[in-house]
Amino acid sequence: MQASPMPDKGVNFLNTALTAPATAAEAALRPANFGDFVGQTKTVERLKVMVGAARRRGDPLNHILLSGPPGLGKTTLSLILGAEMGKTVRITSGPVVEKAGDLAGLLTSLEEGDLLFIDEIHRIPKTVEEYLYSAMEDFRLDIMIDQGPNARSVRLTLPRFTLIGATTRSGLLTAPLRSRFTLNTRLDFYGREDLLTIVNRTCRLLNVPIDDGGAKEIAARSRGTPRIVNNLVNFVRDYAQEKAKGNITQPVAAAALELLEIDARGLDEMDKRILRLMAEAYRGGPVGLGTVAVAVGEEAETLEEVHEPFLIQEGYLQRTAQGRVLTSKGWEAIGLQAIAGAPGAQGSLPLA
Ligand SMILES: Nc1ncnc2c1ncn2[C@@H]1O[C@H](COP(=O)(O)OP(=O)(O)OP(=O)(O)O)[C@@H](O)[C@H]1O
Ligand SMILES: [Mg+2]
Repeated sequence: MQASPMPDKGVNFLNTALTAPATAAEAALRPANFGDFVGQTKTVERLKVMVGAARRRGDPLNHILLSGPPGLGKTTLSLILGAEMGKTVRITSGPVVEKAGDLAGLLTSLEEGDLLFIDEIHRIPKTVEEYLYSAMEDFRLDIMIDQGPNARSVRLTLPRFTLIGATTRSGLLTAPLRSRFTLNTRLDFYGREDLLTIVNRTCRLLNVPIDDGGAKEIAARSRGTPRIVNNLVNFVRDYAQEKAKGNITQPVAAAALELLEIDARGLDEMDKRILRLMAEAYRGGPVGLGTVAVAVGEEAETLEEVHEPFLIQEGYLQRTAQGRVLTSKGWEAIGLQAIAGAPGAQGSLPLA
């Protein structure tokens, strides 16, 4: 087998979505209440129970942890929770809360019942995390001021607030932090029907004409992710305007997505690079994540948070104790046959 030269990085909607701030366009597409939020029925059901009960009792909502890959609706749900409770949502993110003082500033600015949304909560510094424990449990903060013989602790009493944590890596959360959330709920990749509903919803909101075939094509290639649906609809709309008098049909959507190098399975250029590297340089693995990351020129963390969950869920990759292994479906996705004797070809794998 010949190793093909590395292709250009190509368009990577996932990465841009990870780093780009929410745009006005994205905000306009965000569902504003439970009724508008498509799919994730289990999570939504759980949240509705908690909101209903809290409102009836006149209590603040209990603390909630939302986990799952990027673009599935964690931020959206936290804003919906605020709206449904009729309370303000303050938004921050783990790495931004550097010191206990930052946390104290945030918490003391809240009103009774407000929601504090901490995105990427697994990246909150350990020293700050410990203060969060008493804040969540007893609504108080004991902050040390001064040093040496003058050091003393000052107790701040906090309004009863709700912490909504979001994380792409719930496995990295410490047990004490995780156990302080009443609900720990995971968002899954969306199924075909839900994606189709979201494509049609987005097109309706953007006033974009699309037929059934066009909608199905976009839904199938959107990697189970609403944010990608929205990005693809935007691109296909531009393409249709330039090349097809504005109407999105199946052939128009397919041609536009070919141009983005997103294949019929929804795999993007980086996904395919990962699979190709594993096949061509490592005979299908097992190969360590760090090695793959260096070879494809991407952060290991990004591979693990963004690319792997979909590749594993769809059965292109398996995670084993020895490293990542390409499955026969993974070989097929890049148009190759598993090498005889390669681990992915055998069916039985030592699972981690
Ligand atoms: N269930 C849904 N129905 C319709 N649109 C949705 C749904 N979930 C998310 N979206 C759309 O996808 C976009 C991305 O969602 P959101 O920002 O909530 O993802 P996230 O999980 O917070 O991602 P990240 O981990 O990158 O912060 C939203 O702007 C919204 O328009
Ligand atoms: Mg978010």
